[in-house]
Order: sequence, then structure tokens, then C-alpha cells
Amino acid sequence: MRMRRKRNLEPRMEACADILLVRGRPMLNLKEAAETYRAVFDLEEVFGNDRPVELEVGCGNGAFIAELARRHPETNFLAVEVCTNVVLTAMERIRREGIANVRFLNIPAEILPCYLPAQSVRKIYLNFSTPLPAANREKQRLTSSRFLQIYRLLLAAGGEIAQKTDSLFFFEYSLKSYAENGFAVVCETHDLHHSEYAAENIVTEYEANFTAQGKPTYMVCVRMC
Ligand SMILES: C[S@@+](CC[C@H](N)C(=O)[O-])C[C@H]1O[C@@H](n2cnc3c(N)ncnc32)[C@H](O)[C@@H]1O
Repeated sequence: MRMRRKRNLEPRMEACADILLVRGRPMLNLKEAAETYRAVFDLEEVFGNDRPVELEVGCGNGAFIAELARRHPETNFLAVEVCTNVVLTAMERIRREGIANVRFLNIPAEILPCYLPAQSVRKIYLNFSTPLPAANREKQRLTSSRFLQIYRLLLAAGGEIAQKTDSLFFFEYSLKSYAENGFAVVCETHDLHHSEYAAENIVTEYEANFTAQGKPTYMVCVRMC
């Protein structure tokens, strides 16, 4: 089902312009975009400091990135979300809560290297990315080789990816993909909420829904070799 456009979308987006680094055109031709757009940001200029940068891909309503940023004022955060309606909710949350260390990119993650400097990111978060089990959607999975090559460009030496999912299929697919693309497992659990990592976990919107349905959360953290 197509999501209805938010009321007053444009003025509300405009009101968040100071925390929105880039807004892509809908139905962007990714190949054309990758060739056309070359607007690499100076992240020290963007944040006004040289603190480490972490990135969430597919931030949804922003609950996770807001809490992470609140807990870690010593870190800068970027949040990528392809859907404009959705990124607006996340940006309005950050504005409302007065959080200073988060900026947004309203683009598909496929074109991140057009905007972010190589090796500029310390850690990437993938929270409940859509599993896309159909074989013909494999390339679009956010842990496919195609995306891991993009993350490899963006991550600094020793950089990490932290992933959570409710889908055993997607979890196992991702573990295989990490191994095939030179990422080594740092920690892993099939039941995050009953593991040693539970205390520091930040529950996302999708995670809360899946947990309410009795589903476990699979979590893995990998490091680039
Ligand atoms: C299933 S939702 C999960 C939202 C949130 N991370 C959570 O855990 O509540 C996946 C989100 O990723 C976004 N997304 C999917 N593919 C993307 C891509 N290639 N680039 C950027 N965002 C993407 C979707 O628009 C959606 O908001």
C-alpha cells in the first residue's frame, strides 16, 4: 500500500533544513545519480567538530538514532532514510528533543558514496532492514555484497556493522554475506533480549512490534578485516 503524503510536507521539510544534508529526487535512477551527484560533505564542517561519525541506514521514525545520540554526545550521527514521509518524522523528533549531534540524508543508501567521504564512518547500524526473501530482490537487501562493498568504502579501518533483525532467513543470509565479503564476527546472539547485550540495547519501533508478537531479535556485530 502506498503511504499517503504527510500534511504540509514541504513546509515541514523546510523547517528541518538545518539538519537535512541532502534530499534525493523520488524514483531516482541510481546509476545516473551515482554518475551525476558528486557532493561529498566535509563532515567536520557539517558537525562543527572532528568527533567520530556513526551511520544508521534505514532509520525509520528515528527513535533509535535519537536515543543513541542522547547517550553518546561525544559522537556524531548520520541517519539515512529513503522515504521522505518517514525521515520527516525522524527529523521532527530530533528537533523536538533538542538533540544536536544528528544529521539526515533523505536518499537511497545505494548512493551514499556520492555524499560521504571514504573511510569517514566508524560504525554502521542496520536495524530491522527489510529481509526481501525473493531471490530477485537479493541485490536490494542491505547486507548483500553490493551494499557491503559500499559500506567498505565508507568505513574507516577496523570499522564495524551492527545488525538486528527478526528474520532468521535474513540473519543467516547476512552472516554468509559478511564472511564472503571480508567482515569478521565480533559478537552474535539469536536472542538479544535474553543475552548479555540486552542491558545496552536500544529498542527500535519495529523491534518493539516484533517483540510484542513473541519474535526473538537476532543481533550480530562484525568488523571489517
Ligand atoms: C523495516 S523499516 C525499519 C525501520 C527502523 N530501522 C526500525 O527498526 O524501526 C526499514 C526502513 O529502511 C528504509 N530503507 C529501505 N531500503 C533503504 C535504502 N536502500 N536506503 C535507505 N533507506 C532504506 C525504509 O524506508 C524503512 O523506513
